[in-house]
Amino acid sequence: MSDPTTSVPATPVPTPGPVAVAPETFLIPHLVPAQPGTFLPVNSLVIRADEPVIVDTGAPIHRETWLEQVFSLVDPEDVRWVFLSHDDGDHRGGLQTVLRECPNATLVTNWFSVERMVLEEELPLDRMIWRERQESFDAGDRILHLVQPPVFDGPTTRGLFDPSTGVLWAVDAFAALADGSGPWLEDVPGDLYDQTFRDLNSFVSPWHQWLDPERYRAHARQLQAYGARVVASAHGPVHTRPETINDAYDRVIAMAGEPPSATPGQAVLDEILAAAKAPVPA
Ligand SMILES: [Fe+2]
Ligand SMILES: [Fe+2]
Repeated sequence: MSDPTTSVPATPVPTPGPVAVAPETFLIPHLVPAQPGTFLPVNSLVIRADEPVIVDTGAPIHRETWLEQVFSLVDPEDVRWVFLSHDDGDHRGGLQTVLRECPNATLVTNWFSVERMVLEEELPLDRMIWRERQESFDAGDRILHLVQPPVFDGPTTRGLFDPSTGVLWAVDAFAALADGSGPWLEDVPGDLYDQTFRDLNSFVSPWHQWLDPERYRAHARQLQAYGARVVASAHGPVHTRPETINDAYDRVIAMAGEPPSATPGQAVLDEILAAAKAPVPA
């Protein structure tokens, strides 16, 4: 998802470290300033399976701290898999570095991602496997399943479900701004969540306005039926309770057939530029 930052940063950016969200499963959190006092999460995941897995590789602006966090959890030599959810830039910032520093890593991607990425960078075809949604790969002590997140901003997008821990990587789905106090849903003020969840999930999937609600509900419920116990995502808080996970599904299902949220336009850009030029008070 593109960065919806709409203001000049005024708040120091918290720099949290890795967070265990399930046994041997760690969120790699980063934050980008958004509306005053709020941040867009830009997360990825590390699964220390028998064959360790990096799940997405962060954004280019965070590459150095992203690498520090990931390699504080797993030795580069031990990384066996790099699962790339899709080819958007905010999910592949560390990809080339990982391929270079992790000689035993195989990239898990798909044909269309590769078709799109080779326009920008070289990729080793002999170090990748292609997996589609409903397919899986074996990380030694667990089989990881590729799934279709309920909203997505790129056609190549696949989420990842780990039945051994119940963790779902929902990629760009279930996004919401944070206030920087922590990565969990319970850290996010309710009104901030209510407003930004709707907007961000609409921004990444404005096609929801053309969906048939009944058909989309049935589709989304299929993923919900996997019974994820933890839902982590690139741009939203971590859910660990069934009621909030179910609520998140209900919220995206309710968007079917509804008008998309309005994105900031020229007036907002004018405000940002005016604020940037305004003299700083003595
Ligand atoms: Fe995306
Ligand atoms: Fe994204």
